[in-house]
Amino acid sequence: MLSYRHAFHAGNFADVLKHSVLSLVLDYMTRKEKGFHYIDSHSGAGMYQLAEEYAQKTGEYKDGIAKIINDENAPESLEPYLSLIKSLNLNSSSSDELEVYPGSPGIAKAFVRRQDSSHLFELHPTDIQHLEDFCQHWRKVFVKQSDGYQGVLGLIPPPSRRGVVLIDPPYELKEDYQKAVKTIVKAYEKFSTGTYILWYPVVKRELIEQMSHNLVKSSVRNVLQVEFCLENDTDEYGMTGTGLFIVNPPWQLAAQLEEILPYMKTKLGRDETSYTLNQLIAE
Ligand SMILES: C[S@@+](CC[C@H](N)C(=O)[O-])C[C@H]1O[C@@H](n2cnc3c(N)ncnc32)[C@H](O)[C@@H]1O
Repeated sequence: MLSYRHAFHAGNFADVLKHSVLSLVLDYMTRKEKGFHYIDSHSGAGMYQLAEEYAQKTGEYKDGIAKIINDENAPESLEPYLSLIKSLNLNSSSSDELEVYPGSPGIAKAFVRRQDSSHLFELHPTDIQHLEDFCQHWRKVFVKQSDGYQGVLGLIPPPSRRGVVLIDPPYELKEDYQKAVKTIVKAYEKFSTGTYILWYPVVKRELIEQMSHNLVKSSVRNVLQVEFCLENDTDEYGMTGTGLFIVNPPWQLAAQLEEILPYMKTKLGRDETSYTLNQLIAE
């Protein structure tokens, strides 16, 4: 089943959290000269045109990135992310209107250097085409239309022993919840110093608890969990919040999120909005 299209959701509140964390992690990785591997198991299209039908149909970005892009009082921790989105929209016809929003490959492209390599997996026949087009003039990028879970395991450990792995499935299939955790656990066994970012939607609380439980009982150490929920958990259908498990986060990331989360609550939140940040597994 491949009906999920990220173009409907590009720039929404979940992307703001995920992509600001990804930006901070990549920014941190580039502080050392030595190259690293960026591995994206579920890449999507790479870049999204916000004026197009998909993004306009849901308008999700209007309740996400659009609410903070022009805020001069945004916290410093959001700077790497916001300045990148601004730089991509320099030619926008109006300063209030965003024309494009990057997917995770678009974020990565802005940070990686000559010594780094990027490995992108995507299955959808249309999105892989968009992704290949987006990557055309990008050196040291390897795009594959194949399963991202297997793709990650095939590249681990990277020869440089430095790597960032983003696992961002659509969760159309319930099995994605456990498959994503299993992939991290297996990858960690071969490469325990890599940084892994696993995104999840808050749809059914028990599925997330099962993920946490399986991580906690595994050999994986040093896991930060962050969650931002627009609304309280509900049994009704639909995503009420967003979260990330981050294995081996950069040391300042928790403090940076302490700045980002209350800001997101003020700018993007509703009456019931809440957030949590906790060290799920110690170092
Ligand atoms: C949530 S979106 C990715 C968004 C992207 N990482 C971003 O942050 O911009 C999930 C993507 O995974 C793709 N996909 C689904 N199953 C996959 C698999 N087994 N391997 C690789 N890609 C897959 C979908 O087609 C979809 O484009």
